[in-house]
Amino acid sequence: MNHELARTATTAASPSSATESASASTGWWRDAVIYQVYVRSFADSDGDGIGDLRGITGRLPYLAELGVDAVWLTPFYASPQADGGYDVADYRAVDPLFGDLQDADDLVRAAHELGLRVIVDIVPNHTSDRHEWFERALKEGPGSALRELYHFRPGKDVDGKGSDGSGGELPPNDWESVFGGPAWTRTTNPDGTPGDWYLHLFAPEQPDLNWEHPEVHAEFEAVLRFWLDLGVDGFRIDVAHGMVKAPGLPDIGHRKQVELIGAQVLPFFDQDGVHEIHRSWRKILDSYPGERIAVAEASTPNPGRLARYVRPDELHQAFNFHFLKCPWDPARMREIIDASLAATVSVGAPTTWVLSNHDVIRHPTRYGGGAQGLARARAAALLMLALPGSTYVYQGEELGLPEVSDLPDEARQDPAFFRSTGQEGLRDGCRVPLPWTADGDSYGFGPAGSWLPQPASWGSLSVEAQTGDPGSTLELYRTALALRRELPGLGDGRMEWLPGPDGVLVFSRPGLVCVFNTTSQEVQLPTPGRLLLASATTVEAEDTVPIPADSCTWWAI
Ligand code: NOJ
Repeated sequence: MNHELARTATTAASPSSATESASASTGWWRDAVIYQVYVRSFADSDGDGIGDLRGITGRLPYLAELGVDAVWLTPFYASPQADGGYDVADYRAVDPLFGDLQDADDLVRAAHELGLRVIVDIVPNHTSDRHEWFERALKEGPGSALRELYHFRPGKDVDGKGSDGSGGELPPNDWESVFGGPAWTRTTNPDGTPGDWYLHLFAPEQPDLNWEHPEVHAEFEAVLRFWLDLGVDGFRIDVAHGMVKAPGLPDIGHRKQVELIGAQVLPFFDQDGVHEIHRSWRKILDSYPGERIAVAEASTPNPGRLARYVRPDELHQAFNFHFLKCPWDPARMREIIDASLAATVSVGAPTTWVLSNHDVIRHPTRYGGGAQGLARARAAALLMLALPGSTYVYQGEELGLPEVSDLPDEARQDPAFFRSTGQEGLRDGCRVPLPWTADGDSYGFGPAGSWLPQPASWGSLSVEAQTGDPGSTLELYRTALALRRELPGLGDGRMEWLPGPDGVLVFSRPGLVCVFNTTSQEVQLPTPGRLLLASATTVEAEDTVPIPADSCTWWAI
């Protein structure tokens, strides 16, 4: 089931010298714009209120017209959905909520016919607790060979012996779950006595796999081949920094682990051993025709460590979360752009820009919300799309959707909600189903409602309402993506900073000058060229031009 791609490479007209030395390929991914589809919230075809594969297939023409090169689908595999599908029970099956294997095959085929590539998620750090391996490991009890595929450990004793005389009441170490609470859950033995503990860096329903075990490697290699044989163009690797744990699973000795994640190498994140896994997967990808790729979801302390994931014999891309997390601060933004480009160029890879995804507060809200947040989000989009490298666009960002911050508790499904007390880090608000039409039940998301309530204001943000409106965010993205295709070298070419007033970042790309005004005031600049695109109304003038507050403009030179 290996389908031909109708449209070949996208732009990539002027590869950097690093590209040339990296491979003789087209390098389509080096400057690709890849659209993230959060499957359960994109389009519902069967009226159960949950998005599905057929719904996506029906909307692929929209994505082709938007001008993206590929889509990334979040997990649609058989799963009890304890963490939105990132708890996989069967890596080779489609969950009935989302369709079946034929639907997946139809989707890939239809995408290829439209010239779109398809990237799917792979979740190798953990399985579901309903995966056959884990269920049998629990059932068979201590001594089961299947327990070696996970991290089962005896607990620590309180004062030598526990109150019930068996001991082991405390977790084996001090690691915490990313969703809150200890990263360990105690099992009950088949005879009803308290048993060993197992590790889960995320929810208890997501036991961590033991990547020291050859069978884990063999299984995931087979899973990759299964989907590559079906015709997918690559993988987004979930928790790509997490599979390998430091020997002995040492304590981290810090009471607020959450502050350390992404700030330093931890015994469970960003261990050197993960790179061996990525190297072996790269060999598999390269053994297939058509430049299949992988993108790392990896949280690292700095761009330098992130670049290790995209060395020539490892993965193709790694999400630039340093850029995503950067506050609205021109100095910090410039610093991160420079550090990211320097780090990736040193290994011959592109930088992969991203502003939003299904785990973070949507960027119009992060940038202050309301009219100013939207203005900044539009400006940031043009900044991102003018930078060298590839870009990910999260569904709905092309509509300027804000975070939905007032969801009722009973509607929430994020496991983080059930394990934490505050509102911080909750992720349902960025996962609210898309509005397609200005009116109607669920604004065209599906024939009968949506799994999370959509705000009443979303009709005016719908695809239908924005299409054809030159001032809309949707048309801004469409024009920017079309220009990216037209301007040779804009994707993966040279970039040079130019002088600009305080708070204004100005840089040139082949054929283009980008002016990014982060200040809340209009600034006057010598007219940089011919106005191509502006995130806010900009009036052209001969000598000097007023650049609106919180805006980004592209100028042909
Ligand atoms: C990262 C995914 O993006 C997130 O949604 C998920 O909860 C964790 N990995 C665990 O799989």
